[in-house]
Amino acid sequence: MGNRDCAHRSEPPAPIGPPAALGSFSLVRVLVIGSGAREHALCVALQSDPEVSALACAPGNAGTRAVAEPLAVDVGDPVAIAALAGSWGADLVVVGPELPLVAGAADAVRDAGIPCFGPSAEAAQLEGSKSFAKHVMTAAGVPTAQAWPVGGLAELETALDEAAQLTGGAPYVVKDDGLAAGKGVLVTADRAAAVAHGRAVLDAGHAVLIEEYLDGPEVSLFALTDGTTVVPLIPAQDAKRRDDGDGGPNTGGMGAYAPLPWAPPGLVDDVLARVLQPTVDEMARRGEPFAGLLYAGLALTSRGVRVVEFNARFGDPETEVVLPLLETPLAGLLEAAATGTLADVPPLRWRAGAAVTVVVAAPGYPEAARTGEPVTGADGDGVLHAGTAVTEDGTVVSSGGRVLAVTAVGTDLAAARETAYGRVAGVRLEGAHWRTDIALAAVEGRIVAG
Ligand code: AMP
Ligand code: GLY
Repeated sequence: MGNRDCAHRSEPPAPIGPPAALGSFSLVRVLVIGSGAREHALCVALQSDPEVSALACAPGNAGTRAVAEPLAVDVGDPVAIAALAGSWGADLVVVGPELPLVAGAADAVRDAGIPCFGPSAEAAQLEGSKSFAKHVMTAAGVPTAQAWPVGGLAELETALDEAAQLTGGAPYVVKDDGLAAGKGVLVTADRAAAVAHGRAVLDAGHAVLIEEYLDGPEVSLFALTDGTTVVPLIPAQDAKRRDDGDGGPNTGGMGAYAPLPWAPPGLVDDVLARVLQPTVDEMARRGEPFAGLLYAGLALTSRGVRVVEFNARFGDPETEVVLPLLETPLAGLLEAAATGTLADVPPLRWRAGAAVTVVVAAPGYPEAARTGEPVTGADGDGVLHAGTAVTEDGTVVSSGGRVLAVTAVGTDLAAARETAYGRVAGVRLEGAHWRTDIALAAVEGRIVAG
């Protein structure tokens, strides 16, 4: 004991200077922007990080209130977000959704001198404009579906014919070239329906993108980046269609699981080398460095890996299954990405096992969700809130199409699935619907990578 005291006193004083990236920065006050289950998952992960001294979520939801101080903000107003970060005394702001990023929230927060996890408005165009993303991918040599931008009706028909010629016929892929939260895409074998969707998007004043159809299972791979260094997380898979068996319309995501037992070995390294790093390098070369979360939506096709889309933020609901498996404390990682020090971060540590999340959706979702209904049984383990609010009398009510993301971690996918569905059985929302087959094809070994 005496010896240790002595040794301690004889050590030189700790150097004063910028903190190292991980493990040694002082306690941080973290402000999370957003109100979905992704933000609830971020808050749960940040709350358990000993580096985080205070946590707030704006505007948050009925679930985030249990782990983070609720603050009011208009997420579409970058100036208001920066002002809130300043007045609350945030050391780090984490922007969840795409809307504030595309509007310039990260720029405004950084201009106020506060580190922010999230790309600039310009860099967020990787998500905000599908044609911008295509240009970047072409310049960076990133494999993706061939695409035809369409500005008018005459071009629409020609583009559909050219796409069909390339793939040997239908299906057709018709996209709204703007933010549509995953709902602006129609994949159909019916040419008339393809034309009608393209016409509706054009009538709404948006440009249309026709794409080559990609076969093969989809993978969501997230990477943290500070604009130079890229650190991939583990791959997850999202269930985009509303109904069991991948039927019904596209949604924001009805469930997810991770890891992917069927993923080819080397997938993450391959995507890092061929997709993520070249994209980040190309953005830096353009003078629009991308720092934050780069989400590669991939298809493992019969012709190899192709990028379906990029997003400029954590995916929802994939975040709800990736973060519970991450053992490395989250705040230091996000801070390192925000401050250009990711190269100093040691390799990430992951928990063994698997995670499954099942989205409980409001009646009518995705077309016309009915909200304002009481939600009960939603305060148990793993129940992340996606679209909930608290009324004046303290009742928890639905406030969005996706209401809950009910999550569980287990020793394997089958165990995580069983626990997640057990938890779903404990929640109550009149008229709610959810898929009963999240992760089932993977558990049964029915997914084959192209
Ligand atoms: P996006 O909004 O671009 O993410 O597209 C939403 C969903 O539509 C994707 O996750 C795919 O399921 C499907 N999709 C988009 N593009 C294609 C494509 N080129 N080929 C096949 N399916 C696609
Ligand atoms: N899960 C799809 C998305 O976050 O865009």
